[in-house]
Amino acid sequence: MNEPEDLKSLFKKQAQGALSLNVAFIGVVNGLFTCLRQKPGLTPETLAQASSMDPGYVARWCDAAYAFGYLEDDGSGLFSLTRMGDAMCPDSPETLMPMAVGSVLSAHMTERAAELMRTGERPGEKVLGERKTILPWFGPMLEANFSPLFEGQILPRVREFERVNQKGGLVVDLGCGNGWYLKTLARHYPNLRGIGLDGFRENIDQATLHTKKEGMENRLTFLEGNIREYPIQEPVDLFVMNRALHHVWSEKKTVFSFFRDHLKPDGAVVIWEPAWPLDRKELRDPARRPLAFQGLGEHVQGNRLLNPEEIAAEFSTIGLLTETIRFANGNEAVIIARSGSKPA
Ligand SMILES: C[S@@+](CC[C@H](N)C(=O)[O-])C[C@H]1O[C@@H](n2cnc3c(N)ncnc32)[C@H](O)[C@@H]1O
Repeated sequence: MNEPEDLKSLFKKQAQGALSLNVAFIGVVNGLFTCLRQKPGLTPETLAQASSMDPGYVARWCDAAYAFGYLEDDGSGLFSLTRMGDAMCPDSPETLMPMAVGSVLSAHMTERAAELMRTGERPGEKVLGERKTILPWFGPMLEANFSPLFEGQILPRVREFERVNQKGGLVVDLGCGNGWYLKTLARHYPNLRGIGLDGFRENIDQATLHTKKEGMENRLTFLEGNIREYPIQEPVDLFVMNRALHHVWSEKKTVFSFFRDHLKPDGAVVIWEPAWPLDRKELRDPARRPLAFQGLGEHVQGNRLLNPEEIAAEFSTIGLLTETIRFANGNEAVIIARSGSKPA
C-alpha cells in the first residue's frame, strides 16, 4: 500500500468519488434529478425547460451525469435516472442527497480554512451563508441525515417527550435549523407545542412554510433570533438543542443560565451533539473521520466540538442531573438533564 503506484491509484479513486458527488450536487440543487424523476425520458433541452435552467449548462451536466452513472440514455438522446440517480433525488425515500451537499459544503469549508489559517480569523456562522446554492440545502441535508436516527432510535428512548405531551407542555428548540425535529415531535405527540429559534432567516422561512403545509401552525412557531439573547418569556417544559450547543459553547454560562431561569421546576433539557472522543486515536476509525473534518469547519465558524462528559459537567453547575445515551456506534450522544431525580 505504500508503493507510489498504489498511492496514486488510491488518490485517483478518491478524486473520482469527489467528482461524482460534485456532479450530483449540481443536479440536486437545481432540481434536475427531481424533474427526471417526475418525467423520465427528457432531452437536455426539455430538461432545461422543465427545470428553468440554461440549456447549454444542462447539456454538459447530462454528459457528466451520464458518465458518472446517474443517467441512462435510451440511445435516442432521451435521459432517465439510473438507480444511483434516483437515490440522489431529494424526494426519494431514504435519499442520499446529503452526501452530495455535504461534499460541496466540505469543499467550501476547506477553502475557507486554508485561507483563514494564515491569519487566524474565525468569521463565525456567516460562513455557512456564503454560497448561495448551499445555504438552502443545509437544513434538508441535516434532516435527511439525522431524522431516521431520531425517529428510529432516539425518540423511543427519551421519555421526556411523552411527559411533555401528557402535560400539553412547551418544547423550545434552540438553533432549530429548518425545524424538522420539532415537526417530528409534533407529529408523534399531538398535545405538545413548540417554539424554534434560529439565527438564519432561510431556516425560519423553510420551517414556517413546512409547518403550514402540514397544518401544524397552531402548535409550532419559528422565530429568527440569537440564542445568546434568549427572547422567550413563557416557562418551558423541555429545552432541546440538536447540534447547536457547540455553536454557543463559548457563552455556555449564559445559555445554561437560560435553562436554569426558564425551565419549569419539573422541566428537562435534551441535548444532541456529535460526540468528540477523548482519545485522538478514535478519530482514525473510518466512521469517525468525518467528525475530525467537521472539527476544522467548526473552527472556521468559531466553534469546537464537545465531548459528552463536559456537557454533563456543565449541567451539574446548574444543579441538573444527567443521563447520556450514545447512538451510531458512539458517534452521537444524547444528554438528558433534569432536576430532582436522575432521568429515567
Ligand atoms: C448544525 S445546525 C443544526 C440545526 C438543527 N438543530 C438540526 O438538527 O437540523 C446549527 C444551527 O444552530 C443555529 N445557530 C448557531 N448559533 C446560533 C445563535 N447564536 N443563535 C441562533 N441560532 C444559532 C444555526 O443557524 C444552525 O441552524
